[in-house]
Amino acid sequence: ERTRVAIVGGGPAGLLLSILLTRDGVDHVVLESRSHDEIEHTHRAGILEAGSVKVLTDAGLDRVLREGDRHDGIDLRFGGETHRIDLAGLAGRSVWLYPQTEVFKDLAGHARGTGADVRWEAQVTEILDAGTTLPGVRYRTADGATHELRADLLVGADGSRSVCRHTLPEDVRRSFSHEYPYAWFGVIVEAPRSASELVYTASEHGFALVSQRTETHQRLYFQCDPVEDPAAWTDEQIWAELQRRVAGPDGFRLTEGPVREKTVLRFRSAVVEPVRHGRMLLAGDAAHTVPPTGAKGLNLALADVVVLHDVLSGWFARGTTAGADDVLDEYGRRASRRVWRAQHFSAWMSRMLHSHPGESGFEARCRIAELRALAESEAGRRFIAEGYTGWGEILAR
Ligand code: DHB
Repeated sequence: ERTRVAIVGGGPAGLLLSILLTRDGVDHVVLESRSHDEIEHTHRAGILEAGSVKVLTDAGLDRVLREGDRHDGIDLRFGGETHRIDLAGLAGRSVWLYPQTEVFKDLAGHARGTGADVRWEAQVTEILDAGTTLPGVRYRTADGATHELRADLLVGADGSRSVCRHTLPEDVRRSFSHEYPYAWFGVIVEAPRSASELVYTASEHGFALVSQRTETHQRLYFQCDPVEDPAAWTDEQIWAELQRRVAGPDGFRLTEGPVREKTVLRFRSAVVEPVRHGRMLLAGDAAHTVPPTGAKGLNLALADVVVLHDVLSGWFARGTTAGADDVLDEYGRRASRRVWRAQHFSAWMSRMLHSHPGESGFEARCRIAELRALAESEAGRRFIAEGYTGWGEILAR
């Protein structure tokens, strides 16, 4: 079988690219190893930058405007006191609380509605001839049958455990990564909201994040050991841990309720370069991973695809002859500025807000002093606001 673009991965990056290619009338196939249901029910990120909301609405997906919650600020909490970062006032932009599961439903629903060829439970087992002008994939469907698909171009949007990434030849491939000695214990609780905006908290007992989902369900996280077993924690222990991290002289408390789901999220920063090998290009988590603190992962994946689509349009216009392939390198050059901004922002926010196992009292107090210096300076708050909202025009292309 033959198509023009084979997209490996049916997450937000792969599906957004599919929608943009459908609009251009470019024949393509999306192969996703998981089922539609499994992805729809896996809790992921929650925050969309204004630029990501624009990408969705430009693609005709505007449910986010009706059902998402616009947040004009975030709270930084340390020393038991809350310091608001006025995103809208300082950066001129807001963010939207709109869970990735909803983004996925919108993208997958749109793809289905336009008859895009998205194949669920299609597991890519092998990448074929990535460095040539006719790359392909071998994949297995739920019935156990094996198939081969050839394309002018292969896009690896297959997440942090990417199969496509492994086709980058050893001699050109450069990997940059950072490991963290902590993780997040994430819970979905059945309770009303405890705060109207996100509360990023640094305490002497470690980090905690108060986020929201609906009127009846909330998303909360607290720093834990990477090898923590969520099953070993009772609801009472989880609430006690969360309460003592957010506690302060202002008497702030979380409204409690039954814990409905609990998982441990690993922290990792990673970038692989280059993102092109011949006619194979990487996008989203397949090319880079960020720790969750800056809420950047999903936004970065969508931004990658916007740049990739722009570069591909130019490449298609030139007739996709092998001689024009250098145009494809423009994608990596343009995308990497945002990738590294987001890498720095995510690592920096993580380092400031978390307790580091083994850190000295001096180091811990310097972290809080840095938070205070930022929160009490308009320039500092603005720097955070620009980063949190995605740098807007600063990185406009
Ligand atoms: C959520 C997740 C994040 O990583 C973050 O920084 C903010 C919010 C969330 O799931 O709501």
